[in-house]
Amino acid sequence: MKYLVTGAAGFIGFHLVQRLCADGHEVVGIDNLNDYYEVSLKEARLARLAPLAGFRFIRLDLADRPGMARLFAEQGFERVVHLAAQAGVRYSLDNPFAYADSNLVGQLTVLEGCRHHGVGHLVYASSSSVYGLNDKMPFAATDTVDHPISLYAATKKANELMAHSYAHLYGIPTTGLRFFTVYGPWGRPDMALFKFTRAILAGEPIDVYNQGQLSRDFTHVDDIVEGIVRVADKVPQVSPGWTPSQGRTDMSSAPYRLFNIGNGSPVRLLDFIEALEQAIGQPAIKHMMPMQPGDVHATWADTQGLFEAVGYQPQMTVAAGVKTFVDWYRDYYRQA
Ligand SMILES: NC(=O)c1ccc[n+]([C@@H]2O[C@H](COP(=O)([O-])OP(=O)(O)OC[C@H]3O[C@@H](n4cnc5c(N)ncnc54)[C@H](O)[C@@H]3O)[C@@H](O)[C@H]2O)c1
Repeated sequence: MKYLVTGAAGFIGFHLVQRLCADGHEVVGIDNLNDYYEVSLKEARLARLAPLAGFRFIRLDLADRPGMARLFAEQGFERVVHLAAQAGVRYSLDNPFAYADSNLVGQLTVLEGCRHHGVGHLVYASSSSVYGLNDKMPFAATDTVDHPISLYAATKKANELMAHSYAHLYGIPTTGLRFFTVYGPWGRPDMALFKFTRAILAGEPIDVYNQGQLSRDFTHVDDIVEGIVRVADKVPQVSPGWTPSQGRTDMSSAPYRLFNIGNGSPVRLLDFIEALEQAIGQPAIKHMMPMQPGDVHATWADTQGLFEAVGYQPQMTVAAGVKTFVDWYRDYYRQA
């Protein structure tokens, strides 16, 4: 199969490209290598991908409309996994327009490419943040999600709506995956695990928000990649007999599906920090902080839908998963 992976220099894209190439697919990766976090890390990921058989990288911005149209016209993709986005909840408070450009215009250029060039399946990244003010746990893809509490979350929910309209209008099969706090080697420097590891190793305090009274459904990137690959092979069909009043929110009369992809077991932030202290072999100095605007108190994925559709069952424990990150971090920064 010929794949487009957007955000190939990003954390999840980097891991996905490796897996797709190992499975024998042809993969074109695009990324604009923006400086939201250290560009050297994105370049280092690309340097690892460059020699892979079947892989080709093109530097391109999603919001470059002619460039994106040309890409789709020239390449003839069979499948698209759209991961490129402006991520991060807190950054969206200060840089809202970055989210409009990358997440809204970006989703549209991808949808337009799929529309005009017969892409067989579009899989795109949504986020657990769409659950916003919802407090029914675990979060299910069949819950209504109309109350986001950050612009980032609002753009991710908008991505789902845009995908539905294109699935309905043009019959493009689309699957949205709501990722739950992904972590692992080559992870993102703006995320807690990375910041905590850097601080603990430097003997500096870590900022623990909401006095540690937070929990997250931490999901290892290996489990995420397994889920994406399985979902890519499961092209959504129309759900016969579906009606808006009686049908589920995660499917439609159009070829449209939505899934949570998480670990399915929330971990208290303080327990996560303890796992990190164990992996590093050094205690953290905790600097207790108030709740951050835009953050949610807890996330917990109901992954039954993904299990039923593709047999997805996450394998990685937090203790083992955090160690994979710490081992990578030590190795990477020794070399860098
Ligand atoms: N990592 C998580 O915990 C998590 C959780 C929920 C959702 N997500 C979503 O998963 C996807 C991948 O996340 P990630 O953690 O790998 O993030 P990442 O920031 O490491 O990767 C995203 C990549 O997209 C690229 N990019 C951003 N805007 C672009 C644009 N306009 N044009 C071209 N490239 C652009 C960036 O340079 C980056 O390399 C994103 O859509 C993110 O919103 C991630």
